[in-house]
Amino acid sequence: MARQFFVGGNFKMSVVLCGVGREHAVNGSVETIKKIIGLINDAKLDPKTEVVIAPPALYLLLAREHLKPGLEIAAQNVFDKPNGAFTGEISVDQLKDSNITWTLLGHSERRVVLQEDDQFVASKTKAALDGGIGVIFCCGESLEQRESNKTIDVVTSQLRAVKEKVADWSKIVIAYEPIWAIGTGKVASTEQAQEVHAAIRSWLKKEVSEKVAEETRIIYGGSVSEKNCKDLSKQADIDGFLVGGASLKPAFIDIINSHL
Ligand SMILES: *[C@@H]1O[C@H](CO)[C@@H](O)[C@H](O)[C@H]1NC(C)=O
Ligand SMILES: *[C@@H]1O[C@H](CO)[C@@H](O)[C@H](O)[C@H]1NC(C)=O
Repeated sequence: MARQFFVGGNFKMSVVLCGVGREHAVNGSVETIKKIIGLINDAKLDPKTEVVIAPPALYLLLAREHLKPGLEIAAQNVFDKPNGAFTGEISVDQLKDSNITWTLLGHSERRVVLQEDDQFVASKTKAALDGGIGVIFCCGESLEQRESNKTIDVVTSQLRAVKEKVADWSKIVIAYEPIWAIGTGKVASTEQAQEVHAAIRSWLKKEVSEKVAEETRIIYGGSVSEKNCKDLSKQADIDGFLVGGASLKPAFIDIINSHL
């Protein structure tokens, strides 16, 4: 069974657009979110690609209201408790009630800036899956870890925390995002990306099952652009992209269609 190509757009809080030698931040706002959704709705998209966009929590309902049916919305985060006194958090049931069918989890910005550890991310992954929403599970190494040849160890220990809590992987999409390539304009070479994706798949085969290894989408994130997406998409173990900066630009459409 061929794995369905998957492209996610992570709008973050504000997206940094990178150009040669200059960059500027674009705030996610009612205006920009309506604009990009209009662009997506009007574009001719590869019908074989699954598309999910992740705006800031405040705009999830707005995005669901405007995005055409058949395309899905992800939260950028969700909490691991079903309800209660957890100021500032959003539950899985609240997402479902709002027709939000996916969530990102474990993004490096949350792991690093908000200090979420592997256990907490895995616990939230379990809560989301138990509640019936899909998880775009992010993993990846820092530059220092890559340079000391710890890439595979880091990524597999992030995944191992999930394996210890979760049995059903059918609603997990794994997003490999090397931290050194996020928003920096630096891209892992096609070979570097494919190498890690293949290692993740062989870890799944060994540690989870052959079926899960065969069926799980492993997508690449880290300064994906309309220029490099075609080449990356041809790799055997790259099943799509998680797009940051470029997801608020027309280039997002080219990336969605990169597999055509
Ligand atoms: C969720 O989807 C259902 C079915 O399409 C619809 O009736 C309902 O109004 C939606 N809820 C929200 C909050 O958009
Ligand atoms: C890097 O680590 C892997 C195991 O994760 C090992 O097989 C390989 O030999 C190491 N390479 C170097 C250059 O140390």
